[in-house]
Amino acid sequence: VILQPPPEILAPRQTRLREVLAPLGVDRLLVTTLPNVAWLTGFDGSAAVALVRPHDIILVTDARYREAADEIAAGAGGLIATAFVDDTYDETIVRLIAGEGGPIGFEAGSMTVARLNWLTTTLERGGSRTSLTPTMTAVEACRSVKDAWEIGLLREGAQRLSAVAIGVLADIRPGLVERDIAQAIEGGLRRAGFSRPAFDTIVASGTRAALPHGRASDRVIQPREVVVLDFGGVYGGYCVDLTRTIACGDPGAEARDWYEGVRAAQAAAIAVIRPGRLATDVDHAARTVLDDRGLGHLFTHGTGHGLGLEVHEAPRVGRSRLESGREPMPGTVPIPEHLAAGMTLTVEPGVYVPGRGGVRIEDDVLVTASGVEVLTSVPRTLVID
Ligand code: GLY
Ligand code: MN
Ligand code: MN
Repeated sequence: VILQPPPEILAPRQTRLREVLAPLGVDRLLVTTLPNVAWLTGFDGSAAVALVRPHDIILVTDARYREAADEIAAGAGGLIATAFVDDTYDETIVRLIAGEGGPIGFEAGSMTVARLNWLTTTLERGGSRTSLTPTMTAVEACRSVKDAWEIGLLREGAQRLSAVAIGVLADIRPGLVERDIAQAIEGGLRRAGFSRPAFDTIVASGTRAALPHGRASDRVIQPREVVVLDFGGVYGGYCVDLTRTIACGDPGAEARDWYEGVRAAQAAAIAVIRPGRLATDVDHAARTVLDDRGLGHLFTHGTGHGLGLEVHEAPRVGRSRLESGREPMPGTVPIPEHLAAGMTLTVEPGVYVPGRGGVRIEDDVLVTASGVEVLTSVPRTLVID
């Protein structure tokens, strides 16, 4: 339950967060989103909150995690203090913030109305001068650019995931059941050092390949039909995510056409990735290739997403939302619209034809100072024998 980033990694994370909070007029933030707590403290257990203060962070957790929290504080060189829940999390939060005074930010994206009502009412009734003020995506914006520690884990995770994929793909043959292939994948992930799958493993064969998120079923793989395999693992706390589409024998001209389109779309999308490009440009590049081949209307999702402590995180790599006209909420720290060195993304165009089948190809990439590094390396071959 400890990720153990060293103090020289934790310190710049705290500094970056304080820099994005300053324009919002808050110098303290109540962090209630677990992956954000993990990023700020290295705590990877199932329950905790954190209070970011001007010079340190209080990690608040309960008796189950006392040793882990003490170990984190001991290794953090004064950057992290601990507090333990003796009654409830919310009462502990009030105890910690009631005497602070002034506005303290909270994470409006995950705070429930019930919790906020209770916290504000309890503070008021106790005569506290502390107020809670909404913020949005402050930690998520910081997390969108990975540091050296994170890049090391993502690079290693992507290599290990590629090795698992190569092993599994070599063993696929007609007659196997989707669910058994998923089990083989998940066994391979554990043997390769992953702590868990990053999401429910997808094995979607034949007409089920038209379901972008078709979880493995009892269906038996038939000769010459497409099979979409999409799986990921969590390595050292970080998620990697890969998709290949294969067929045991030639699946025919239509499926080959989808495959060539998706492969070309993915290559075009990867080719435009470099710092300064709009994330929406990456999506546009993939979509243009599929549009030109008459397949654009079959590409029904975004081109990719950020990867990190969560399997789907900022930035999104999708269509421009400028036309939506939605104003950001006050207190929002915007997610960067432009790619920056250190971002890790998936690039995963797909084509889905209801009742017939589908194709997706997904790789993980790192935006580098000069362009892009593809972190996963698995052959892109449709027909295997
Ligand atoms: N299977 C989740 C994804 O690729 O985004
Ligand atoms: Mn995936
Ligand atoms: Mn993905």
